[in-house]
Amino acid sequence: MTSKLTRRDFVAGTAAGLLVSGNASLAANPTRRRVAIVGTGIRGVSFWGEFLNREYSDVLEFVALCDTNPGRLEYARQSIGVDCPTFTHFDEMLDSVAIDTLVVATVDASHYALIVKGLERNIDVITEKPMTTDEGQCQAVLNAAQQSRGQLIVGLNYRYGELFTRLKEHLAAGKVGKLTSIDFNWYLNVHHGASYFRRWHGIREHGGTLLVHKSAHHFDLLNWWIGADPVEVHAYGGLEHYGANNPFRGDRCMDCRHSKSCAYFWDMRTNQRMMDLYHAHEAHDGYIRDNCLWREDIDAFDKMAVQIRYSNGVQVSYTQTTYSPYEGFRLGFNGTDGRLETWEGIPSLMARQQDPSSLHEKEKDQHGNRHPEMEYHEIVTQQNFDTLERERLPYVRAGHWGGDRLMAEYLFRGRDDKPALRRQAGPRDGALSVLVGIAARRSIDESRPVRIADLTNLELRS
Ligand SMILES: NC(=O)c1ccc[n+]([C@@H]2O[C@H](COP(=O)([O-])OP(=O)(O)OC[C@H]3O[C@@H](n4cnc5c(N)ncnc54)[C@H](O)[C@@H]3O)[C@@H](O)[C@H]2O)c1
Repeated sequence: MTSKLTRRDFVAGTAAGLLVSGNASLAANPTRRRVAIVGTGIRGVSFWGEFLNREYSDVLEFVALCDTNPGRLEYARQSIGVDCPTFTHFDEMLDSVAIDTLVVATVDASHYALIVKGLERNIDVITEKPMTTDEGQCQAVLNAAQQSRGQLIVGLNYRYGELFTRLKEHLAAGKVGKLTSIDFNWYLNVHHGASYFRRWHGIREHGGTLLVHKSAHHFDLLNWWIGADPVEVHAYGGLEHYGANNPFRGDRCMDCRHSKSCAYFWDMRTNQRMMDLYHAHEAHDGYIRDNCLWREDIDAFDKMAVQIRYSNGVQVSYTQTTYSPYEGFRLGFNGTDGRLETWEGIPSLMARQQDPSSLHEKEKDQHGNRHPEMEYHEIVTQQNFDTLERERLPYVRAGHWGGDRLMAEYLFRGRDDKPALRRQAGPRDGALSVLVGIAARRSIDESRPVRIADLTNLELRS
C-alpha cells in the first residue's frame, strides 16, 4: 500500500498558485493514484468510473472494482473500459489489492462501514454523500477519520457548482450586510422525485429518508454559505402521496396492469442504460429499478419542512417537496442591508419551457452539453431603500451545476481557482451535512426540537 503524504510533502510538491488551505488535494501524489470503487451503480459507473477514466487516466488508474452484484460489476468494468480485477467481497478487495484512494458509491446506509474499513487501513477515502445515515455511524466515521493516516473527503459536489459558488462569494463579500436568515425551498418534480420512491431511497433503513439522502446536499450548502455550525433543528414531515396512499398498486412498472391508468407509469425499457445496469442483473439480488411507487413498505417522508438555528444567530426555513409539477428551487438570503435571491426551474419565471421528464438526465450529463431552453441563472440583489440589481450567469446545469468536473479537477489535479472558498469537504463537513437531516428526522418522529450537540461528540463552534 502506498504511504500517505504529509501536509509538508503536499505543499512542497504542488505547483504555486494551486495551493489550498485545509485538506490536501489527492493530486499531491506524484504517481498515478491507484483508485478502487466500491458500488458500481449509476453514480459509480457514470461519474467515478467512466468520467474519471476518460478525463483523468494520466493521473489515476483503476486497480479494482467492487459491488455485491456480480452482473452489474462486470457491466461496470466493461462500460468504464478497464481490465482491473473485480470483487463481490469488499474485505477480499482490501486484502488483495494495493489502493491509494477508495471511492465509496454504494447504497447510503452501507457507506460508514466501508469508509471505516478503508480508513483503518490508512487509505484515502472519497465517499459519496450522505457520509452516513444515522448519528451512531457518523460517530464511528469521525473516530476512524481521527485515528487514520488516510484522508477522508466527502463528495459534496454542489459546493463547486457555479451558481452556488457565486452565492458564497456574494455572502462572503457582505452583499446583503450581515446575513440574518435564509428561505430555501427545493422542488423535486413528479419524474425525479418519484424516481427516489421507486427504489431503495424510499425505505429509511437504506437512505435515511430524503432529509439525509437528498437534503445532505442542501444542508451542506447552508452550513458552508452561513459559515457557522447548526445548533438546533425543528421539523415537520409527512408521507401523504407515495407509498400506501394510492388506491391501487402493482409489483413493478414493466409488467403492471395499471400501466395505462397510472400517471406515474415509467417504461424503463425505453432506456437502454437502465436495462443494462439494473434489469439485466436482477436475478443476483432482486434490485428492481422500476418498483411500484405505491409499495406499502415505503416509509420515507415525501414532504418536509425544517427550521434550523445556527451558532451565529442565522435562522433557516427549508422545505423539500417530492411531487412538484416542476423541478427547481427558490432561495433567498436576508441580511441587515437587503435581500439576495435566486431560483431555478420555476416555469412562470422562465423564458422557455423545459421538458420536465428529461431534466434529471441533464443534471447527470457528464459531457458538458448545453441545454438551450435554459438560458441563464439570475441572482437578484436589492439593498434596503434601493432598486434591484440583476446579475445573469451562464446557465450551467449538467454534471450538478458544473460541480462534478470542478471537484474532480481539484481532487485529482489540485486545481482550484477559488481556494479561499474552501470547497473541499472533509469529515466535519460531511458530519454536519447529515446531522441536520438526522436531527430533522428525529424531530419529526418525536415532535420536539433536536440539538445537534446531542447527536455526536463533534465539538461545535460557538
Ligand atoms: N453527489 C451526487 O450528486 C450524487 C448523485 C447520485 C448519487 N449519489 C450517491 O451515490 C451513491 C450511489 O447512488 P446510485 O444512484 O449509483 O445507487 P445505485 O443503486 O445505482 O448503486 C448502488 C450500488 O451499490 C451496490 N451495493 C450496495 N451495497 C453494497 C455493499 N455493501 N458493498 C458493495 N456494493 C454495494 C449495489 O449493488 C449497487 O450497484 C449513493 O450514496 C448516492 O447518494 C451522489
